[in-house]
Amino acid sequence: MTATLARHSRQTVTRAPAARLAVTYRPARAMDVPAIVALINEYAARGVMLPKSPDAVAMALDDFIVAADHTGRLLGCAAIREYSPSVAEVGSVAVVARAHGTGIGRELVRRVEELAGCRGVNHLVALTMTPRFFETLGYAVVEKSRYPEKVARDCNGCARRFDCPEICVARYLN
Ligand SMILES: CC(C)(COP(=O)(O)OP(=O)(O)OC[C@H]1O[C@@H](n2cnc3c(N)ncnc32)[C@H](O)[C@@H]1OP(=O)(O)O)[C@@H](O)C(=O)NCCC(=O)NCCS
Repeated sequence: MTATLARHSRQTVTRAPAARLAVTYRPARAMDVPAIVALINEYAARGVMLPKSPDAVAMALDDFIVAADHTGRLLGCAAIREYSPSVAEVGSVAVVARAHGTGIGRELVRRVEELAGCRGVNHLVALTMTPRFFETLGYAVVEKSRYPEKVARDCNGCARRFDCPEICVARYLN
């Protein structure tokens, strides 16, 4: 029991430096592609995100926001994916495990919302296995069938379309 408590307290202490990370948020660059793909695919291997290829990320680079530490190392990413002039998806939201709980995920989503605003998009949707995260950011759970563009583009060809583990959440921007 003592050992468990000691381990737990060491883990708690190691989170403190992460909370003081100096984080830079910026549009993604070509040099970020390998780190973005590695981060997303690490979570995809655990079944919490869908995998992405380097080509898919490179082709959508203008849609990605990244968070980096003071050495330039990737801490997280998120992307906008436009379905129509007014509706877009917030996707590829991922933060490296050592920086979880430090507000990076929240800030990445906020920046994607800002990008959406700049592009004239006022309705954001996410397909996620962690709806609670999005609910804390003001999103509400909705029926996926409300977004036929998404269903036509991604769901119809998916092997898991009748057994989809993802929850649809959405938010209207002011
Ligand atoms: C989900 C994820 C992006 C959150 O990033 P993060 O930087 O740890 O989150 P934040 O610190 O910004 O937390 C923002 C809020 O969401 C909540 N939250 C964070 N992760 C959560 C989770 N997995 N489940 C439920 N709530 C969560 C936090 O408690 C916080 O709420 P609060 O402000 O009321 O305290 C991160 O855990 C991750 O990369 N997970 C693996 C990939 C994934 O599931 N991506 C999301 C779906 S595309």
